[in-house]
Amino acid sequence: GKVGVLFGGRSAEREISIMSGTGVLQALLSKGVDAHPFDTAERSIAELAAEKFDRVFIALHGRYGEDGSLQGVLEQLNIPYTGSGVMASAVAMDKIFTKRIWQTHGLATPAYAVLTAETELRRVPDELGLPLIIKPPHEGSTIGITKVKGYSDMQEAYALAAQFDEVVLAEEFVEGRELTVAILGKGRQAYALPITEIVAPEGNYDYQNKYFTDDTKYLCPAPLDQALTDEIRKMAVDAYLSLDCEGWARVDVLLRKSDNKPFLLEINTSPGMTGHSLVPMAAKAVGMSYEDLCVEILRTASL
Ligand code: DAL
Ligand code: MG
Repeated sequence: GKVGVLFGGRSAEREISIMSGTGVLQALLSKGVDAHPFDTAERSIAELAAEKFDRVFIALHGRYGEDGSLQGVLEQLNIPYTGSGVMASAVAMDKIFTKRIWQTHGLATPAYAVLTAETELRRVPDELGLPLIIKPPHEGSTIGITKVKGYSDMQEAYALAAQFDEVVLAEEFVEGRELTVAILGKGRQAYALPITEIVAPEGNYDYQNKYFTDDTKYLCPAPLDQALTDEIRKMAVDAYLSLDCEGWARVDVLLRKSDNKPFLLEINTSPGMTGHSLVPMAAKAVGMSYEDLCVEILRTASL
């Protein structure tokens, strides 16, 4: 059937989505799939309906693509799509709601506070300690994030995050190793690919080091002992299932340095598929090429 690769979009991660979509499109074409590009920012829902796609691969990141709103449109149009459904996409897009669900499942996530325009910002470090992290809860790719080192940085960090979201997330800083776990499949079939450890220059895995430099090192499988590997992979699958995710996702984890305790940071329901991205690296570690990974994700497209 006719497959649409949806990419572009109007979120702050548009540039990344164009890279992901281009890669996915080429991969599917190389596998003989009748794939067609579709930029969701430049074209309307009526045009999407008129394309009469049999299935779509969502290569959009962030708002209006990863957050459930597009998933709702596709449900209405009766077009099967890759990845999570409306509810899981919406919850996962919000880092605060995600943490609340994980907490109710007894899954460890760093301590946090929710900041609004009324919050007395200088009280927040008393509660969470310093340094702490300030983030807009609906963004990805490190956009709008600040590591706050002193009381005097709070206002500026809050103002930056508040450019993206009305409510802002403040999180305890967990000093440790940065890990990520790709998950494929649905329900009982869901499984974790090998864990990847990210070693960024000066521990700074930011937008630039994520996509545009070759200075970041990726260790896959991550050098962890078997028991810890099993624990983290199970935790990532539990994190995925607790939100009712489907198809594929990537769970970001911090492994605390002092005691090797893993903490869940967030889950990405439409992870990056760029040449620098992490899910393709984990797939490669089990002998699955980028092209095979795209076909495998597409195979799980559903309503
Ligand atoms: N938000 C980016 C695209 C990722 O998680 O890969
Ligand atoms: Mg993210």
